[in-house]
Amino acid sequence: MTTTADDIAKQAAGEAAARLATDGMCLGLGTGSTTAWALAALGRRVQEEGLRIRGVPTSFAAERLARRVGIPLTSLDAVERLDLALDGADEVSPALDLIKGRGAAHTREKVVAAQADRFVVLVDPSKLVDRLGTRAAVPVEVLPMATSPVMRALERLGGVPELRMGQGKDGPVVTDQGFWVVDVRFADGIDDPAELGRAIKALPGVLDHGLFLGMATEALIGRPDGTVECLRPAGTPAP
Ligand code: A5P
Repeated sequence: MTTTADDIAKQAAGEAAARLATDGMCLGLGTGSTTAWALAALGRRVQEEGLRIRGVPTSFAAERLARRVGIPLTSLDAVERLDLALDGADEVSPALDLIKGRGAAHTREKVVAAQADRFVVLVDPSKLVDRLGTRAAVPVEVLPMATSPVMRALERLGGVPELRMGQGKDGPVVTDQGFWVVDVRFADGIDDPAELGRAIKALPGVLDHGLFLGMATEALIGRPDGTVECLRPAGTPAP
């Protein structure tokens, strides 16, 4: 298998993130190809260094990977707060507002990130944007019977909605909750992400959307040369 510049960047970000874990921490375990590097590195630290951590997975995929690499798991029923949540993103703005959900896991990812004292986003440079919505669609998780009315409402909000299909099955993608995903594109990006997020969340039948605003405390940007840069929202002190 050939290693691409993207892989090197994702691996660098993932491994830097895994170094943030310390003994006794409860961690949110994100979903996606970048976070997979972090989970693999955390698993190695558990096995080789005896690092004592517990993880709350954000998806069936994260749960299966965590079990495979040997990260002990827990749940939000058992822990009140998470010390650190690690996750990828599809877009990161200069204020560290995010679009997430290419893997259809954004609803659980948001629940987990919201419980964390520190939410660290792991990306390669291709995810950095000046304005949210210019590169990625906003995923909206919907109750299947509400899909058509929700799509019509998303059009009225200025978007171009498309039901996410396929990926190894016939018909719509089905989330871990049994819901469907509508991806909404905005031709020139999103003018007011907070207002859009509120409007989407208020639609009957919407479980949640992939706008993560004011949640990330840091972003680790892995570069193709293997270096990692840490960004924080302007004016935020280092933890
Ligand atoms: C999962 O639903 C997503 O939110 C991912 O975290 C996001 O799409 C980033 O994934 P990659 O690291 O694979 O690009």
